Order: sequence, then structure tokens, then C-alpha cells
Amino acid sequence: MNRPRNDNFLRALLRQPTDYTPVWLMRQAGRYLPEYGETRKRAGSFLQLCKSPAFSCEVTLQPLARYRLDAAILFSDILTVPDAMGLGLYFSESEGPRFERPLREEWAIRDLAVPDPGEHLRYVMDAVAEIRRALAGAVPLIGFAGSPFTLACYMVEGGAGNEFARIRTMLHERPDLVHRILSINAEAVIRYLNAQIESGAQAVMLFDSWGGCLSAAAYREFSLAYTQRVVAGLLREKDGQRVPSIVFARGGGPWLEAIAACGCDALGLDWTIDIGAARRRVGEQVALQGNLDPCALLASPEAIVREARAVLDSFGPSDTGHVFNLGHGVPRFTPPEHVAVLVDEVHDYSGRRRGK
Ligand code: CP3
Repeated sequence: MNRPRNDNFLRALLRQPTDYTPVWLMRQAGRYLPEYGETRKRAGSFLQLCKSPAFSCEVTLQPLARYRLDAAILFSDILTVPDAMGLGLYFSESEGPRFERPLREEWAIRDLAVPDPGEHLRYVMDAVAEIRRALAGAVPLIGFAGSPFTLACYMVEGGAGNEFARIRTMLHERPDLVHRILSINAEAVIRYLNAQIESGAQAVMLFDSWGGCLSAAAYREFSLAYTQRVVAGLLREKDGQRVPSIVFARGGGPWLEAIAACGCDALGLDWTIDIGAARRRVGEQVALQGNLDPCALLASPEAIVREARAVLDSFGPSDTGHVFNLGHGVPRFTPPEHVAVLVDEVHDYSGRRRGK
């Protein structure tokens, strides 16, 4: 069976009617949940957690056991792809993700090759299949990857610091080398996401977390052009069901119209843009996902209810085209009971407005 029992999320992405506004949260599985910390300890490290299909499945399901979420997201990381290219991913407690062998030399960039997802990323495909079995058709499973540009930021910088000045310098000095990296990344991401779809992912999301650090012209040339290439290469259907695609464009506010035209089904918004204004600009072309400020989850339950309603009110009364989410990931120190307040309010308030 390919159609989940609760398919409100998939319907909203395709701008079809839903019972209420579906909701899931970026980083819904993670450090704010004590049970995540326990599983991570058993696994040994974050990376070992990602590389074990059984642990990845366990962690994916943890937030679903607590909250009435309308989708599950594969527990993994965007940096598994450059790791599979041989860059040597590791996580440092203080600095976050790092690569042992960042792309600094021309020869290394020339040598870069597209990894076979069935081989070097087999553990991700096994996790997807295991999670689908465990979900047993309850809610849809989202697969994901980083955008070619966002991956390149980490691959060239070797980590997250310095506002990615190295790649932003390289694209002025040696645009040919940056295009070479981006072409390889685009092909790698297409193959990786299609393998996730073949393994059971029912929607896919592309995280362009850092495209927003570019100038308008560079954004089009180095970020959007390759996002577009990826979207064009994705499988559209699996077992007769549409597999919708979401592009999360952090900092993409200035260029929403251009991103909405890239071929994706939905646009993920950060919290800096008013979702009603975004809807007026692109809501006829794509569904919208977002966009509560994640820090609202750190405030009181009364504030969470008020802010959730403000996002729903701004989107406007409608039963199509909105997936509620945060504008970025769940903050690390979020009290877990605050997430329940948010999820329940989105369902109750949006359902009431629809007379359900
Ligand atoms: O959303 C989910 O629940 C699915 C899992 C998921 C993770 N990372 C788990 C994770 C997803 C979809 C990602 C995507 C990701 N990873 C992005 C794009 C989204 C964004 O945040 O902009 C990026 C840029 C990364 C790279 C990455 N991974 C960073 C910068 C960090 C360290 C910073 C941080 O937030 O901890 C990670 C580690 C990471 N990825 C953790 C989790 C749960 C924390 C690991 C831990 O300490 O246990």
C-alpha cells in the first residue's frame, strides 16, 4: 500500500483539500527529546546513529509517538553525500560538522565523482525501507538532501564557520571550479533522492540552507540553476502516486518568484517573510511550507498558540496549499511539551476554521 491513511500532508503539497492544516517540524527528531539522547548514547555518536538503519528508524519514530504529526522525516543528515564522496565527515562537539579532506585543490575538485547510492549510501536506503515498514501506512515519509550549493559550502569550507567565505571567494576567482563541484553535486543529489524514492520516500525535500548568503546574480547562477537541475531530474511518480518535491529556500525571500518557477511543488519558507505576502506572490504556482519563528517554541504556551494562529491567519482561510512548519529547525532547548501545544493548536484551529 502506497497511500498513507493520513495523507493530508501529501494533499496540501499538491494544493488539494485537506481536513485541517497538516504539520511537521524540521528537526522534529533531535536533541530536545530526552529519548533521542538515550538512543544517541547507545549508538555511540551522531554519525553512527545515522549509519545504522535500526537506530535511524528508532529516532525517526520518536516524535511521532509523542505528537500528532502529519509526516515523518528520515533521520539522517545532508552531509552523508559528501561523506560518500570521500571527504571524511566527522562531528566536533564545539564546531559542528567538519570534513577531514575539504575541497581546496584543483586536482581534488577534478577527481570528485558521483557516488553510487546503492553502494556508499546503502545504509540510508535501508533506513528508508525500514522506516516505511515501521510506519505501516500511518503517515507519509519525507526523504531529503542538501542542495548542490549548500553541500558545496561545507565541502569547500570544511565546516560551518566564516560565512562560507572560501566558496564565495572561489566563485569570483575560479567560477569554473565551483561549477564543476555543483555539477557533480547535482548529479549525486538526483541519484540519491531517486534512490530514496525507490526505497519508499513519499515526498522529497531539498535543503538550500545557504543560498541566501549570495548576491542576487550569484544566487541564480550558483544556487537556483542547480536546484532547478535537481528538481528536473527527480522521479515524479512511484507506484502510480505523485511524489511531491519541496525546496526549502532559507533567506530566499527576495527571489521567491524565481524559486517558485523551478519546478518544485512546494516552497519552504524561513520565518523572516510573511507567509500571506509570500502566498500573494507565488501561491498560485506552489504550495507553501512554514514558517513560524523557531524561538516561539521557547516562549510560553499562550505565546505559542497566539503565534501559531498568526501564521495560519496570515496564510488566510483556505483548505489548500499550506503545510505548517517552523522557519528552521526545532531549537535544542525546546521543552518537549511545547511541541504538543503547537501541533494540537495547528490542527484544532485550522480544523475549526474549516468547520470540521
Ligand atoms: O529534520 C529532521 O528531524 C531530520 C534530520 C536532519 C538532521 N539534519 C539531523 C541532525 C535533517 C533534515 C538535517 C539537515 C541538515 N543538516 C541541514 C539542512 C537544514 C538546516 O539546518 O539548515 C544542514 C545545514 C545540516 C548540517 C548539520 N548537521 C549541521 C550544521 C549540524 C550541527 C548543528 C546542529 O544543529 O546540531 C548537524 C548535526 C545534526 N543533524 C543534528 C541532528 C539531529 C545534531 C546532532 C547531535 O548533536 O545529536
